[in-house]
Amino acid sequence: MDRLLPSASVLTLLILSFFSEVNSASFKLVNKCRYEVWPGVLSGANTAPLSPTGFALKPGKSRTLSVPKAWSGRIWARTLCTEYSPTNFSCVTGDCGSGKIECAGSGAKPPATLAEFTLNGADGLDFYDVSLVDGYNLPMLVVPRGGTRGGCSATGCLVDLNGKCPRALRVAREGEVGRVACRSACEAFGDPQFCCSEAYATPDTCQPSVFSLFFKHACPRAYSYAYDDKTSTYTCASADYIIIFCPLPYTRYNYYYMLHIYCDVLFNFSGTKFYMG
Ligand SMILES: *[C@@H]1O[C@H](CO)[C@@H](O)[C@H](O)[C@H]1NC(C)=O
Ligand SMILES: *[C@@H]1O[C@H](CO)[C@@H](O)[C@H](O)[C@H]1NC(C)=O
Repeated sequence: MDRLLPSASVLTLLILSFFSEVNSASFKLVNKCRYEVWPGVLSGANTAPLSPTGFALKPGKSRTLSVPKAWSGRIWARTLCTEYSPTNFSCVTGDCGSGKIECAGSGAKPPATLAEFTLNGADGLDFYDVSLVDGYNLPMLVVPRGGTRGGCSATGCLVDLNGKCPRALRVAREGEVGRVACRSACEAFGDPQFCCSEAYATPDTCQPSVFSLFFKHACPRAYSYAYDDKTSTYTCASADYIIIFCPLPYTRYNYYYMLHIYCDVLFNFSGTKFYMG
């Protein structure tokens, strides 16, 4: 008995670590943009960081990250990045200011489209959303796969809003006509009414604005302002997630499966039935 106890506890530990391994999730990041993007990852306080915290993703490429069971944080894509030197890396949109490809604990400078996650939250559910509260830089889609409970709907913003962005919110590169991002009204004007701050810091006092409605009409599932929870937060249990940058079709093959994604997003089919190749 004396000799059995230690090995039994070693076995228990092995079994436990095996199951926590099985229970962890994966994020597959897919770049369907015609251009290279540099995803950034910011882990929430009190949550294990993911690795890497930033990397390059060429058009058509994907990369899968393994995510701890109770992870929370956000993922976005940086665009128009340049590495002048190993310590001088910067991006025109979504820059995290680290000076390197890895964001190492720094978040996106607005405007940037954000995918936000709290895995294994209340009732064991994952909570996820795509947020335009900090503005928009490219279309993004989050698709849960293999979920066991919850709605497990796809969410995101499929539309390219940079061209349609209201004049007061547009971001363009110096001396160029084409727009690279669209700011939130909060960032553009700093008005507490748009930021849901000060006298407007509750769901009752902070109402949608003409600017947040521009985002909401284009992307009904995405967060358009801070208290847009009801139509913008989704849940799923024990799922893996596919995060697609620029999910619009640009090849004939994409075209057919993107029709399914459109069906899901427009008509609210179950979000888990797609083959994401
Ligand atoms: C990075 O390199 C660019 C181009 O050489 C330069 O304009 C910029 O000032 C540099 N930034 C830093 C932080 O060194
Ligand atoms: C999608 O359908 C589910 C189940 O029918 C429902 O609970 C959920 O609210 C719907 N979501 C949207 C955005 O319509």
